[in-house]
Amino acid sequence: MTEKVQSTVSSDQTGDKPWEPRILAFLCNWCSYAGADLAGVSRLQYPPNIRVIRVPCSGRVNPMFILRALAQGMDGVLVSGCHPGDCHYLTGNYFARRRFLVLSRILDFCGIEPGRVQFSWVSASEGQKFADVITRVTEDVRALGPAKHAVKQMWDIPPDVLEALQEKGDTTDGCRTG
Ligand code: FES
Repeated sequence: MTEKVQSTVSSDQTGDKPWEPRILAFLCNWCSYAGADLAGVSRLQYPPNIRVIRVPCSGRVNPMFILRALAQGMDGVLVSGCHPGDCHYLTGNYFARRRFLVLSRILDFCGIEPGRVQFSWVSASEGQKFADVITRVTEDVRALGPAKHAVKQMWDIPPDVLEALQEKGDTTDGCRTG
C-alpha cells in the first residue's frame, strides 16, 4: 500500500504548469468509491484535482499513508468511508475516525493547517454529496495554498512519534470485523 501511495504521488508531478491543488483521496470500496462512480455516471461536475486510491475500508488507511502523501508533495488528503453503522466490516470507519482525530492533533502540533487533511462519510447512493465534498475540499486546500510548508514541517515530527504511528498502523493493518 505504501508503494501505491508513492507511485500515485510521483505519477502526478505537474512540472511547470500553474499551481493547482493536488489532493489524494482514499476512498472505501463499498461506499465512497461507489459514490464517486455514481457521480461519474451521473455526469456531475467536480474539480479534477483528486487522485484516488481505492481501499477496502477507511479503517485500512494507516496514518503513515497520509503523512507520506503530504511529505511527498500532495497538498491535501481526503479519507472517505461509509456512514457510521454502514461499514462493510462493521467498525472499520469508527477506527478510521478515531485515528483521524489523533492525527489531526499531530498535524496541528506540526503546524499543518486544519483543512489539508479531511474526513467524510459518503455512501454509494450519494453521488451529489461526493461531488460536493470534492469541491469543498479542493476549495479549502486551494485557499491554503501549496503544501511546501507541510513538506518541510513533516520532517520535524519526532522520530518516536513517527515510530509509534507506524506501529499503530502495523497493528491495525486490514479491517477489523468485531
Ligand atoms: Fe466502508 Fe468500512 S467498508 S468504511
